[in-house]
Amino acid sequence: MRKPIIAGNWKMNKTAAEAEALINELKPLVKKAKPEVVICVPYTDLWIAAKSVLGTNIKLGAENVAWADSGAFTGEISAAMLKEIGVEYVIIGHSERRQYFGETNESVNKRTKQALSNGLKPIVCVGETLEEREKNKTKKVLKKQVLEGFDGITDFSNIVIAYEPVWAIGTGKTATAEDANKTIGYIRSLIKKTYGAEVAKNLRIQYGGSMKPSNCKELMAMRNIDGGLIGGAALKAEDFAAIVNYKD
Ligand code: 13P
Repeated sequence: MRKPIIAGNWKMNKTAAEAEALINELKPLVKKAKPEVVICVPYTDLWIAAKSVLGTNIKLGAENVAWADSGAFTGEISAAMLKEIGVEYVIIGHSERRQYFGETNESVNKRTKQALSNGLKPIVCVGETLEEREKNKTKKVLKKQVLEGFDGITDFSNIVIAYEPVWAIGTGKTATAEDANKTIGYIRSLIKKTYGAEVAKNLRIQYGGSMKPSNCKELMAMRNIDGGLIGGAALKAEDFAAIVNYKD
């Protein structure tokens, strides 16, 4: 059985003081959660967030990680820096990073390897754009993202994949639950073909893209969907808690 994982991706939102307030609001609302609960916050919030989640069931994540150990990489943050502060998860290859910051399947691969070798758990994002979808290229794009992104990686026990159709991010448009389930099923079949049935059976694959309290139940009921990567709705304690507690 795969344990569902609901992760918030705060993106570039919340100052440290705001982060502390939001976590304090969230703590009592999610304390009985059945899924694994993660919040991925901006670097400047990590320190205060690490203190705020101590002794709770909320796990801490970052939104990116450098592919090198240390050195002349202005503006980057290393896996060791994250690890020492108490970070457990890290989002890698989010579509916004691919779109605005030149992230490629190759750099995703390097960052994922670096996270794994430092004991961080990568949440690797894949997904097609609207144009790719309309041209019927979804499978082709996902295949390339998966095969290149995970090239040389064999141990998937600490990896989570987030399927985020780019056209559904921040747009209010959600993939239908059936559609998301089907596409995630395709990703799982790809993993099975490449890495074997056992890996595919145990690998958690989240859906992300306008997931909110009103649609989370339907999405989470799907066989292939093991959780959500939540953007906008993760910035409001009640909304994020409602998603986390989707089973109640
Ligand atoms: P929204 O939930 O705001 O659509 O964002 C999804 C996302 O990008 C999570 O990583």
